[in-house]
Amino acid sequence: MFGIKTAALPATLPRLLGLALLSAVAWSASGHELDAEQKRSRALLENLCGRCHAVGKTGQSPNPLAPPFRAFGEKLYDTDMVQRLQDGLTTIHPDMPTFRFSRYEAAAAVNYLRSIQRSR
Ligand code: HEC
Repeated sequence: MFGIKTAALPATLPRLLGLALLSAVAWSASGHELDAEQKRSRALLENLCGRCHAVGKTGQSPNPLAPPFRAFGEKLYDTDMVQRLQDGLTTIHPDMPTFRFSRYEAAAAVNYLRSIQRSR
């Protein structure tokens, strides 16, 4: 259901169950759903990044080397991700095509990415 391998289940199951509960609560409470701008960002990221990265709250990355976006965690806070999205992302990894976001798109994308992180 969560797309994880059976071997990993025992260790991660309690966490996943907790998460499932949390997100069920979050999703049912109005105000915690994605707003229109976050949905636009998700669509943009699905388009540009979705062939390698898992963009949403669940699912595996199509490219096993590419971390799921919901796992970035602290990176979204420690590094200036907004700036990196505007500068283009080729610096990150040779496999990654160059993307340039407008300042507005970059800020919106990071806002979306922060909203899907597992522990915040
Ligand atoms: C062609 C496949 C591909 C596409 C398309 C792609 N990525 Fe990646 N990305 C990767 C791979 C592979 C890695 C892992 C690189 C590594 O850790 O060496 C990665 C890593 C990253 C990282 C982590 C870098 C870090 O600081 O550790 C970020 C952030 C990222 N990608 C953002 C994006 C965004 C945003 C998009 C869309 C605009 C995107 N990627 C599109 C393949 C891709």
